[in-house]
Amino acid sequence: MKTYAQTLFGKHYKIANEFSLAESIVLYPGDCLELMRSIPDESIQLVVTSPPYNIGKEYEKRLNLDLYLHQQSQVIAECVRILTPRGSICWQVGNYVEKGAIIPLDNILYPIFANLGLRMRNRIIWHFEHGLHCRRRFSGRYETIIWFTKNDNYVFNLDPVRIPQKYPGKKYFKGPKAGQYSCNPLGKNPGDLWMIPNVKSNHVEKTEHPCQFPVELIERLVLSLTNENDWVLDPFLGTGTSMIAAIRHGRRGVGAEIVHRYVEIALKRIQQEMEGTLRTRPMDKPIYDPVTSGNRLTDAPWKKETNQMMLFEKRDSKGDKEDN
Ligand SMILES: C[S@@+](CC[C@H](N)C(=O)[O-])C[C@H]1O[C@@H](n2cnc3c(N)ncnc32)[C@H](O)[C@@H]1O
Repeated sequence: MKTYAQTLFGKHYKIANEFSLAESIVLYPGDCLELMRSIPDESIQLVVTSPPYNIGKEYEKRLNLDLYLHQQSQVIAECVRILTPRGSICWQVGNYVEKGAIIPLDNILYPIFANLGLRMRNRIIWHFEHGLHCRRRFSGRYETIIWFTKNDNYVFNLDPVRIPQKYPGKKYFKGPKAGQYSCNPLGKNPGDLWMIPNVKSNHVEKTEHPCQFPVELIERLVLSLTNENDWVLDPFLGTGTSMIAAIRHGRRGVGAEIVHRYVEIALKRIQQEMEGTLRTRPMDKPIYDPVTSGNRLTDAPWKKETNQMMLFEKRDSKGDKEDN
């Protein structure tokens, strides 16, 4: 059976490695600034990315923060040049951590966007439950997506991303609307706090890349901020997630990735997406809950003096995998 993307782009799709408006899928194996310089003004409807965080992941050199901000501002300025007048930029970031002290990157990146005349529409909190455990502060369990537009008249399609209400059948019980539904029958606005599992070891989408987007996170942005056939760009493509979310919904996708191994992974995942074989976590799948899933937990170790408590203390003294 043909995938939706195949129906739109044809079974004999092509993954180009240089940008042209005549293409539909472009993966540039190199530096994002080089790619963006080849893209015409006002041609990209959505830029969505998770830039290197400057926190010493295996694909990045730790940079002085000022130099990092300078490099980011060059990339952001190019993104603004190629953005359509009704387009959006979504920058997904976490914290810069130095000797246990954190600097929220969205705070220090905000002035770059504002000085280029962009307007912030949401600061979306992406909450997830897995990550490093901290000893001297609370473990980090969210990152943010800062969403900017170029103008006030921007594309925003709420209906494709509505989520179920808590009480979907609720009706007005008095007044002129008595008996009618008091909620939108298509579902509710998902709000600006998104609980979506991050891609850690047990996640169906996990590759060897240390920080992949879950596809469902980007699908929500693609569906709400673009229309069919629009261009979606990820300048720091990693494993190709943004392009997968774009082509899945009949948008055109372009991205750059500088590390050869990640380019290989991205190409393979995009091909699997086009062939309908890429396994992903569905957008509407509820978050795993051990209680409602019937997984009975053993006694909490801190509740009483048990053997479990002793085991816990032993493990703790050896040290667990932790962040500073
Ligand atoms: C945070 S990761 C993005 C992961 C991606 N969101 C995904 O779902 O796989 C940032 C990526 O940017 C790449 N990168 C770093 N500098 C780059 C540059 N100048 N041009 C293109 N890619 C770059 C890194 O190799 C890394 O894979």
